Amino acid sequence: MNKGAMHPLLSLCVFSLLLPTVALEEDLPPISRPRRFVPYDGNNVLLFQEEGVFNYSTMLVREDLNLLVVGSREAVFALDLKNVSKKHASVNWKVPLKKVNECKNKGKNPETECKNYIRVLHKKNNGKMYVCGTNAFDPECDLLSYTNGTLTLAGTGEDGKTKCPFDPYQKHASLMVDDSLYSATSVNFLGTEPIFARSSPPMRTEFTNFWLNEPSFVSMAQIPESKGSKEGDDDKVYLFFREIAVEFDYQNKMVVSRVARVCKGDIGGERTLQKKWTSFLKTRIDCPVLELQLPYLIQDTYLWCDPMQDWKGCIFYAVFTPQIRGTSDLSAVCAYKVSEMSKVFSEGKYKSPVPIETSFIKWVTFSGEVPFPRPGACINDEARKHDITNTMLLPDRTLQFVKEKPLMDEAIQPIGGRPVLVGKGAPFTRIVVSQVQPADEEPYHVMFIGTEAGTLLKAVNYNEEAFIIEEVKLFEQSGPIKILKTFKDKLYAGSDFGVVQISPANCERSATCEDCVLARDPYCGWDGTDGKCVSFSDSKRKLIQSLKEGNASQCPKMDPKKPVELFIMQGGNMRLDCRSATQLAEVHWEKERLALSPSAHFHLLEDALLILNASETESGHYRCITVEKSKTSIHYSTVIEYQVQIYLPRSEINPLAQTSGPSVTGLQTTLAFFVIAFLALLAWNFYKSHIPLPCNTKKKNVEPQQNQDQEAPAAAAVEKKPLMSEPQNNTSNNNHAAAVNARSDADEEAAPKPRLSTLQFIDDESEA
Ligand SMILES: *[C@@H]1O[C@H](CO)[C@@H](O)[C@H](O)[C@H]1NC(C)=O
Ligand SMILES: *[C@@H]1O[C@H](CO)[C@@H](O)[C@H](O)[C@H]1NC(C)=O
Ligand SMILES: *[C@@H]1O[C@H](CO)[C@@H](O)[C@H](O)[C@H]1NC(C)=O
Ligand SMILES: *[C@@H]1O[C@H](CO)[C@@H](O)[C@H](O)[C@H]1NC(C)=O
Ligand SMILES: *[C@@H]1O[C@H](CO)[C@@H](O)[C@H](O)[C@H]1NC(C)=O
Repeated sequence: MNKGAMHPLLSLCVFSLLLPTVALEEDLPPISRPRRFVPYDGNNVLLFQEEGVFNYSTMLVREDLNLLVVGSREAVFALDLKNVSKKHASVNWKVPLKKVNECKNKGKNPETECKNYIRVLHKKNNGKMYVCGTNAFDPECDLLSYTNGTLTLAGTGEDGKTKCPFDPYQKHASLMVDDSLYSATSVNFLGTEPIFARSSPPMRTEFTNFWLNEPSFVSMAQIPESKGSKEGDDDKVYLFFREIAVEFDYQNKMVVSRVARVCKGDIGGERTLQKKWTSFLKTRIDCPVLELQLPYLIQDTYLWCDPMQDWKGCIFYAVFTPQIRGTSDLSAVCAYKVSEMSKVFSEGKYKSPVPIETSFIKWVTFSGEVPFPRPGACINDEARKHDITNTMLLPDRTLQFVKEKPLMDEAIQPIGGRPVLVGKGAPFTRIVVSQVQPADEEPYHVMFIGTEAGTLLKAVNYNEEAFIIEEVKLFEQSGPIKILKTFKDKLYAGSDFGVVQISPANCERSATCEDCVLARDPYCGWDGTDGKCVSFSDSKRKLIQSLKEGNASQCPKMDPKKPVELFIMQGGNMRLDCRSATQLAEVHWEKERLALSPSAHFHLLEDALLILNASETESGHYRCITVEKSKTSIHYSTVIEYQVQIYLPRSEINPLAQTSGPSVTGLQTTLAFFVIAFLALLAWNFYKSHIPLPCNTKKKNVEPQQNQDQEAPAAAAVEKKPLMSEPQNNTSNNNHAAAVNARSDADEEAAPKPRLSTLQFIDDESEA
């Protein structure tokens, strides 16, 4: 049967199954929900954790040493790049007691703040590593080497001010370029003096709120803009951060997201801006999610570049969350072309402060004459023609302009003017992006997004349709993902509790062809020969895949599964499980091929059907169907079928049990009885707290005579009744039936009268 074809349920489903719509005051962007949720399972990941060590938040990939170097609280670890569970070496970097006491005396918490949190970790050209820690609010840097299988700190005791934050909770960013450290952090104990600095030649920002206004630093990246430049341009370092906007006349402080950039060749001015950036320009960076809300704030970025193209093809992916916690549970990813960012800085207009009244300053578009060389531009061929070969030779007019007006007029807008993904739930914290190219297909960018709940989302934007393939819980504990790295075909994530390594593919999570295809995972396809969902890199065969459409009609027809046989004692309860592989599907139940709705006897749970107070009418064939709407079609699939039989307590003759199999007697029966009684007890204990009252508000189709007053006590009674048995795997179990039948303490109530099932049924013509 063609799964995409019309199904009798379709007429019902078309109205009720479309993705949930939300009532709102403003137009919401399309919100994506993860198709699959994968709970924590130690087998999904390779984990590294050291007893008593926390806050694994810095990582450095050392391909040359085959190591993932991880900085945590008071320790650095050298882990195997292919298996992070293997620790090759570690080194402790603790704070001396004297220093802890000093820190404590300044009012900081000795158990948390007065520790050494590794915040900076970079590779130097000589193969050593440059590492800095907060060191009990007195940052320090050192050189770290890995030789003969051991990690060693040189013990240089270098002052870490301007390189590393004092406060472990303060955000910072750093980058090593040509052995020179670019860092964005606070330089004082109180964390009130922010700078963006370079170690050599030493360079920093002006201490004025025009340049940095109570910032929170996010990330940095180098762009090789000198490569192939016709103007003889220089390479740039981009800095992402958030700060209080100066340009809006709001009563309250409004925070905006920013991107700033400097030129690598900047050595500062001669007199004006001496040892300070002459090329520091910044602008707002927008990710429009909800127009009526304060701007969303940038949390992390990932620079994706096509190795076959120059920097103009590079894209910054960035995650954004709401400005005020609790105002919205949406997070977003926006993507920006580096070439467009660069253009705003190299060609855009400037903003200029205009004093209005005595103290108030308004920032307006600068419309006056812009001096030459262009303020904030790198030294290029045009400047060199005028004998300006370095920034010290820049005229005062240009330098004065930059000093007063580092803010550009135009904000950076994302590709397409809107987010590539908007998700609901735990706020996004980190992002990395990987490109995959399935056979004969265009390449896709797969986004891996860390959340505050310690989960990882895997998502793709297919022709402006954002699709979250899955959400995987990476850690047992639910702390935020603090760092994400990708290298070759591996992903690494760090949290306060450990480091995990994950494979980006995980196709084996799909057991059926439909699930594999509807997952729309560019890493995976269905291998019809082996009957498995496999990754492209592991297969040479042609695989079934439908990424853009999510059309599973190419999947081979599946043999109908044998129904699971179940026996319920009259008046008893039973749980019929139905676990859907996807969160995007609606689950429906049919009895004797007719749609089933909640009633006094049927209670629908998310992943199961409860049959309550069973009577003869509840015997029959049950089928659980999932209905999943993909981009172009609606897919029906049968998850499981049950054949339910009701039997009477022992005092009455039970023809069903007698005809359903050979009777079992003697020892076997007794033994089975004890096993079942034990299972039932277990099941009861387990479900006692989970079974909601059957008379819930969802019920629509109550028999006319029955009113709420009569129902409530009945419901309470039902709840106390043990469930007779659990659905078995696949085969019926006659011992089971006989054994339960042997119970003599069962209800001796009169057999319940058959009760008409209550729903509007739909004729099923599918077998025609
Ligand atoms: C370090 O980890 C602990 C959890 O063990 C967490 O409570 C604390 O906030 C973390 N500290 C920092 C600076 O991230
Ligand atoms: C990774 O290393 C751990 C510890 O040495 C080992 O137990 C595990 O089997 C390894 N796993 C893989 C996939 O190599
Ligand atoms: C490494 O080991 C070799 C031989 O065992 C030794 O000659 C060398 O000095 C060691 N290097 C360091 C830095 O300890
Ligand atoms: C799904 O694919 C089948 C063949 O592979 C095609 O015939 C059908 O039209 C497709 N359905 C949609 C809705 O694109
Ligand atoms: C079970 O159903 C029968 C009729 O079907 C009814 O008479 C009886 O009261 C019900 N028992 C409970 C506990 O709800």
